[in-house]
Amino acid sequence: MSFDVVVIGGGAAGLMCALTAGRRGRRVLVLEHAERVGKKILMSGGGRCNFTNLHTTPENFISGNRHFCKSALARFRPADFVAMVEAHGVAYHEKELGQLFCDVSSKLIVRMLVDECRDAGVEIRTGVAVGGVAATAPGFTVEAGVQTVHADSLVVATGGLSIPRMGATGFGFDLARRFGHEVLPLRAGLVPLTLSGAPLERNVDLPGVALPVEARANGRAFRNAMLFTHRGLSGPAILQISSYWQPGDALEVDLLPDRDAHAWLCERRAASPDAELRSVLAEALPRRLAQRLCEHDLGGSPRMRRLQPRDLARIAGVLSAWPVVASGTEGYRTAEVTLGGVDTDGLDSRTMMSRQVAGLFFIGEVVDVTGHLGGFNFQWAWACGHAAGLAA
Ligand code: FDA
Repeated sequence: MSFDVVVIGGGAAGLMCALTAGRRGRRVLVLEHAERVGKKILMSGGGRCNFTNLHTTPENFISGNRHFCKSALARFRPADFVAMVEAHGVAYHEKELGQLFCDVSSKLIVRMLVDECRDAGVEIRTGVAVGGVAATAPGFTVEAGVQTVHADSLVVATGGLSIPRMGATGFGFDLARRFGHEVLPLRAGLVPLTLSGAPLERNVDLPGVALPVEARANGRAFRNAMLFTHRGLSGPAILQISSYWQPGDALEVDLLPDRDAHAWLCERRAASPDAELRSVLAEALPRRLAQRLCEHDLGGSPRMRRLQPRDLARIAGVLSAWPVVASGTEGYRTAEVTLGGVDTDGLDSRTMMSRQVAGLFFIGEVVDVTGHLGGFNFQWAWACGHAAGLAA
């Protein structure tokens, strides 16, 4: 059987590419090895899919080439996806910081993409084990289960390595290497950090405690919530900074991001000289955390009147730059994304086509472009899927 376009991977990027190419009148086949398409969309955003971010800019992406994502993002904007969502009557809301979520369920986004594919004449095959891929000049052959199909254009949209139980594979990276592409080092991103030994033990009664912080590492800072877990630290601020942190790197957390800690401590000392430090800290921090900080980081909980100016400066320093010694991350088991991937140097940023192999395209998370938390990864999937769909 012969198709104009074969897309391997029926996730966010693959489905967007397929429906775009199908609308152009191309005969498109999507091959998905899982029993259904869009599984990551279904589990995203806590089941409500944070499908885009209204404030998307190229600065929201990590890549070896920070310019690469610009072309695709400029040609398919959040408003373009929102227009499709509205045309399908999918209700949504802005949660915070430009993040758009479905009101009801992520299922509606998958249904919308599948309906668009059907209307564009796209054939979707699920539960298909994709085997060998060969270049036939022109085009490619792809072993799809018991059949071999021929494609003029082949689009690789197999995603990253995160959440292996959802069907993630290294297929796209292996295929890229076989066709002469460089694959930049892969690692888990948007992932909780783990603590071990004493740092973990002393947080024993903190799991579940959350607070607003600013997490900082390697010159990047993210303000949002931090959550103590049984294994370490999570929450949006930690997930964001995890993409910029590697074991051994310094990481610090401002526990009072909205205050001048030193001025506040001086003011509290003057106002409540007989109060204990932990009670004062509990005015601004969760009580259990205030207690642990006094025990382990601040040298006790004296009455405020006993704190000398240098003590106040030291305590303020700890509160505004609390050092975290993380042992690692939870890895691909819980990571939302994979950093690294197919080197963008080998791809045309306008079409996502390989510079080495005409007709071969790489899109979505398999490419070395990774978004921040907040709907940016889906926006990248839609935008680059659209770019490839116009060219494949
Ligand atoms: P995606 O993973 O969506 O699709 C790849 C497809 O290829 C899968 O269907 C897979 O089964 C298939 N496949 C793999 N190997 C194959 C093979 N050998 N043969 C055939 N098929 C194969 N992002 C965001 O913007 N907002 C959010 O709310 C969330 N939430 C979120 C939650 C969780 C728990 C995770 C893990 C991730 C998110 N993300 C997110 C990230 C987002 O899901 C991700 O960036 C996109 O799904 C990437 O789209 P792709 O199409 O590249 O891969």
